[in-house]
Amino acid sequence: MPPPPAPPEYADQHMPAGYWSDPDIIEQGRQIFIGAENIDVNCASCHGKDGKPKKAGARDFRRTDQMKLYSDSVWFWRVSEGVKGTKMKPWKSKLSEDDRWKVIAYERTFGLKGMEYDVVKAAWVPVGTAGSGSEDGAAEGGPADKAPVDGAGSEKGSPEETPQ
Ligand code: HEC
Repeated sequence: MPPPPAPPEYADQHMPAGYWSDPDIIEQGRQIFIGAENIDVNCASCHGKDGKPKKAGARDFRRTDQMKLYSDSVWFWRVSEGVKGTKMKPWKSKLSEDDRWKVIAYERTFGLKGMEYDVVKAAWVPVGTAGSGSEDGAAEGGPADKAPVDGAGSEKGSPEETPQ
């Protein structure tokens, strides 16, 4: 099942240029993920150090077929805002935007190692082959401008979003 599209305020947020391929960034993301930076932020306690879930219901990040259905924006949205009705909480108060991107750059290595999200193609492609999209999400007329349309539609029909 593909995830719902990111809401408008997240739909045009993308991985900062160069992060997908930067080993230092990925390593910093790993430190955050395992709770070494801040023990209150221990993604590995549920998602497992190797991406194999430790808590029932946590997403298995090793499943390439599933993880590739998520855009960088959707991941950023989920990490920022959490997933209502699950143990996945919002992390935006504990992690800066930059740290959220770093942790995503690391997290993607479980199922999508060596891949980066191509914003223009809306697909995961080998690192270094994405079009100018990774630097400029608004290329080709527009996820940035059109985002509200596509974010709004499917959000409201989703029963999971209503509780709490
Ligand atoms: C207390 C357990 C717990 C912790 C800690 C936790 N998660 Fe999650 N996370 C979950 C669960 C459960 C889900 C499954 C929700 C779902 O797939 O819809 C999830 C889902 C996700 C998803 C996929 C969202 C989706 O749409 O399915 C991402 C990405 C994610 N977590 C990243 C992180 C990151 C990054 C951290 C650390 C900053 C983190 N998680 C910490 C439990 C946790």
